[in-house]
Amino acid sequence: MQSSRIAGIGHYVPKNVYTNADLSRFMDTNDEWIQERTGIRERRFADRLEETTTTMGVEAAKIAIGRAGITAQDVDFIIFATLSPDYYFPGCGVLLQREMKMKEVGALDVRNQCSGFLYALSIADQFIKTGMYKNILVVGSEKHSFAMDFETRSRNVSVIFGDGAGAVVLQPAQKEGQGILSTHLHSDGADAEILAMFYPGSHANKWMPEKPGYPDQELGGLFLTTEQLQSGSALPYMDGPAVFKKAVVKFPEVIREALQANQLSAQDIDLLVPHQANLRISQYVQQLLDLPDEKVFNNIQKYGNTTAASVPIALSEAWEAGKIKDGDLICLAAFGSGFTWASALIRW
Ligand code: COA
Repeated sequence: MQSSRIAGIGHYVPKNVYTNADLSRFMDTNDEWIQERTGIRERRFADRLEETTTTMGVEAAKIAIGRAGITAQDVDFIIFATLSPDYYFPGCGVLLQREMKMKEVGALDVRNQCSGFLYALSIADQFIKTGMYKNILVVGSEKHSFAMDFETRSRNVSVIFGDGAGAVVLQPAQKEGQGILSTHLHSDGADAEILAMFYPGSHANKWMPEKPGYPDQELGGLFLTTEQLQSGSALPYMDGPAVFKKAVVKFPEVIREALQANQLSAQDIDLLVPHQANLRISQYVQQLLDLPDEKVFNNIQKYGNTTAASVPIALSEAWEAGKIKDGDLICLAAFGSGFTWASALIRW
């Protein structure tokens, strides 16, 4: 079967830099706490009015398309991964299609949070393998800043996340053994509420009958009352320590699964590009796999956790820095809300 390769890659991050010290102007936090627990020094926040998840995705896509040596008109399928879409519906895929004046090709949105990009990449890989499409644009983009609360009550969440976008163009591989070797996708919904944003959602009557929606109790949580907004029930919720504990098990597990499927070992990896959840998680995984520093790429220090955008931004930066050469074995891995987790092995 025809395998797929990344023919072009690009990323975009907003200009506005917010350091840890900047955040401590809004909430009770400090640089030392944030750096020690997460490794993050600063993050980017999109322009509130001018930039959206789609516009950032478009900027990253333009670079990836240019580097693949094609034009927007050549793209024959779009997959857009995000948890922070411009609209509740329709998804960002169609907005990007419109913005980039693409043909009337299919556009699919993926909502798998931090592993969204890897899920999207895996779907694209299957479409190339079957011969259905030849130039698939895969985008991961997030504008977290629009939904974050910068009060002390939300400090465990809002110091972690940042905005940005990454994109790749997937094409049929040019030679035997090149490209995506395999992808591995998993989920376990048992702890779905541990890292979640409950509104807007249709769950209100089922899970929270004591917090009915507006204007009619029967209508549920798609409509928010002012009280609900003020109480913070429309904000992201995260039990950080519980996420951490699960992540340090699932990251190495899914990486080993990918290596085993290809009869390779951790020593064969030239570069591991993990989802940038927390520097401590990446360092733990690195230690477990016994990888030297130069074989693990981290940029959470500069951008925080950009969820679906984190893997393509990191991969793009690593590629631009010359850390990825033809023939290298690249391992991508992600874990996040759901829980969902995934990995991919790529022979560049
Ligand atoms: N600044 C200062 N103090 C903070 C803080 C902040 N931004 N956020 C939380 N705290 C405080 C807490 O209130 C708590 O205080 P207390 O002991 O007086 O109650 C203390 O720090 C410890 O909180 P805890 O949540 O146990 O800290 P932690 O060591 O687990 O670190 C995370 C918190 C969020 C950094 C960590 O759990 C984590 O990274 N988890 C994984 C998150 C993740 O990867 N999410 C994305 C999914 S891919």
